Amino acid sequence: MTTKVIPLPDLAGFSERDGYWYAEEIPLADLAKEFGTPLYVYSKKALTEAYQAYDRACVDSAGKRRARVHYAMKANSNLAIIDCFKKLGAGFDLVSGGELARALTVGADPKSLVFAGVGKSANEITQALQAGVKCINVESIAELRQINRVATKLQCRAPISLRVNPDVDAQTHPYISTGLKDNKFGIAYHEVLNAYREAALLSQIDVVGIDCHIGSQITTTAPYLDALDKVLELVAQLKKEGIEIHHLDLGGGLGISYGEDHPPDITEFTNTLLNRVADRGFGHLDVVLEPGRSLVGNAGVLLTQVEYLKPGAEKNFCIVDAAMTELMRPALYEAYHAIVPVETRTVKSTTYDIVGPVCESGDWLGRDRTLAIEEGDLLAILSAGAYGFVMASNYNTRPKPAEIMVDGKNAFVIRARENITDLFVSESILPS
Ligand code: LLP
Repeated sequence: MTTKVIPLPDLAGFSERDGYWYAEEIPLADLAKEFGTPLYVYSKKALTEAYQAYDRACVDSAGKRRARVHYAMKANSNLAIIDCFKKLGAGFDLVSGGELARALTVGADPKSLVFAGVGKSANEITQALQAGVKCINVESIAELRQINRVATKLQCRAPISLRVNPDVDAQTHPYISTGLKDNKFGIAYHEVLNAYREAALLSQIDVVGIDCHIGSQITTTAPYLDALDKVLELVAQLKKEGIEIHHLDLGGGLGISYGEDHPPDITEFTNTLLNRVADRGFGHLDVVLEPGRSLVGNAGVLLTQVEYLKPGAEKNFCIVDAAMTELMRPALYEAYHAIVPVETRTVKSTTYDIVGPVCESGDWLGRDRTLAIEEGDLLAILSAGAYGFVMASNYNTRPKPAEIMVDGKNAFVIRARENITDLFVSESILPS
């Protein structure tokens, strides 16, 4: 059987040299030997370069800042990673009290935090208001009223933005598309003006912004422009009614290359959006961007070891020690991740499905991959920095893997491997 050859993604921090894969200056095989597998490995250089490219694209040629990057930490919220971004100047986009606690733990300025999410609890709203976040992005009228009630109790003001559901098709996987009217996200376009009118009348609410986020892994600029135009129409209408908007939050969602995808160049992308904002007469608005995947996706790999090669009548299986528990994206979205042998071998190539040990037929990591490998070899699953570890689970009582950050010739454990006993330490059996 011949399989289609898909190019490898562009990677800033990982490279193959003379048949050996490296994370920056360290052979991946050395990391596997020292820290075991499955293992998440991140490159500080790749994170830094991705952030700096994004941030540079937010500044015009005269040095004037046109937008600010608020890293969507849901993509990868390890403290070392968010600390790196904080030190580079990033703000953050949060979606839970847990993410707020992480941001505060690394000393993020509360005024650099926007708090989004469709179902924030009264507790989470309280924590956000007490911390003094820049803005709470509101997803329904019911939530707006709840925020007003919480702020009344706390005797404080609540800075808010309403998340517009612009009803545009981001042309991505249905599970990661969020801007269509049948998605649960945001306030329906035709209800937004009324929601702002109500917000302006609520005693504790300060209207500061407007936001939208249409989906993830988007590889064209057109749906962003469609959404932007619709949002700017609302801003113009609100101005006529005396409701001033100070910032415009365009969400995240810019795709990365997993192999065949061609996301737009970051500078062209931001220029197109920011020029449109200026051309429509809204150049005075502060613009917030919330990238997640595009800052970390290609800055991480998942290392795994081949346990068994299992030939079959229909399929050959390569059974590895990572599973859907470590990287859920293939099982959940049929997502493609390139998989490479960490060391080149002179053995016969065979086409395999790469699968994990979990008791589910959906537990696969790659399909129809032609690889020259033997049992005991190491594989690197590429582009695993975003929505990898953060979506890991303990299903089948599997401990979560360790996470390592490589910086040049040095490797740092940024999360220790879980022990099996950690997994049930907080469980108890009934008294006899
Ligand atoms: N802002 C908001 C309001 C979001 O909901 C998201 C992602 C982002 C920003 C960041 O989007 P990004 O730049 O990372 O595309 N688990 C899925 C992706 C879910 C995205 C959820 N929201 C996956 O593995 O593909």
